[in-house]
Amino acid sequence: MKILLVGGNGTIGKRIAERLKSDHELIIAGRSTGDIKLDMSNGNDIDQLFQKTGKIDALVITAGSAPVKPLEELSFGDFQQGFESKMMGQINLALKAIPNIKPGGSITLTSGILSHDPIPYGTVLSTINSAVNGFVIGSYGELLYKGIRINAVSPALVEDSAEKLSEYFPGHTPVGMKEVVDGYIKSLKSNITGKILNIPA
Ligand SMILES: NC(=O)c1ccc[n+]([C@@H]2O[C@H](COP(=O)([O-])OP(=O)(O)OC[C@H]3O[C@@H](n4cnc5c(N)ncnc54)[C@H](OP(=O)(O)O)[C@@H]3O)[C@@H](O)[C@H]2O)c1
Repeated sequence: MKILLVGGNGTIGKRIAERLKSDHELIIAGRSTGDIKLDMSNGNDIDQLFQKTGKIDALVITAGSAPVKPLEELSFGDFQQGFESKMMGQINLALKAIPNIKPGGSITLTSGILSHDPIPYGTVLSTINSAVNGFVIGSYGELLYKGIRINAVSPALVEDSAEKLSEYFPGHTPVGMKEVVDGYIKSLKSNITGKILNIPA
């Protein structure tokens, strides 16, 4: 498979890349690293990305961020920052991927546990993760008619981020990287569509 992995040098993305690189044609995109550099919050960058890749079998996105702040400090701009990056960045990539994905291909987005298991100061991410899941649920039927599958992987705090982030996730048990990568492999290689793959289930 020819797979475009946006965020493939990040904490989660590099583990997926390690699993896929020997058996697939893997194109890694990122903001400042990778085979192709782009800002996924910029529509022109996304158009140029697909001009560079040509037709692909699968798009996997493990990129996008949002501010983590107390509720009373949150502004419209904080939400906008998260919308432009993690939410519309992924959605715009998915929309612009449609004509560039071969029949039988797939799109895999990344949401996260905060959609249903919140942390203090994580309101923007909770909002955005739910929106990313909503896009998958809303779009899979129409994509099915085009022969394209779409799923979201929704990981808990991952093991490789635990040292850096566990103080923000009180009482959360980090999930192992093998289990996280397995979620992306399931979305890529099985026949499922329209699913939110919670990791752990
Ligand atoms: N880590 C966790 O525990 C965890 C848990 C649940 C959900 N998630 C979600 O999973 C996703 C990946 O998390 P992560 O921890 O792997 O993040 P990360 O280590 O910060 O890596 C993010 C990757 O995305 C790329 N990127 C960031 N902004 C971009 C932009 N505007 N345009 C293009 N590429 C961009 C970065 O490129 P460069 O390498 O060039 O900087 C990097 O490769 C995030 O959406 C996060 O919310 C993470």
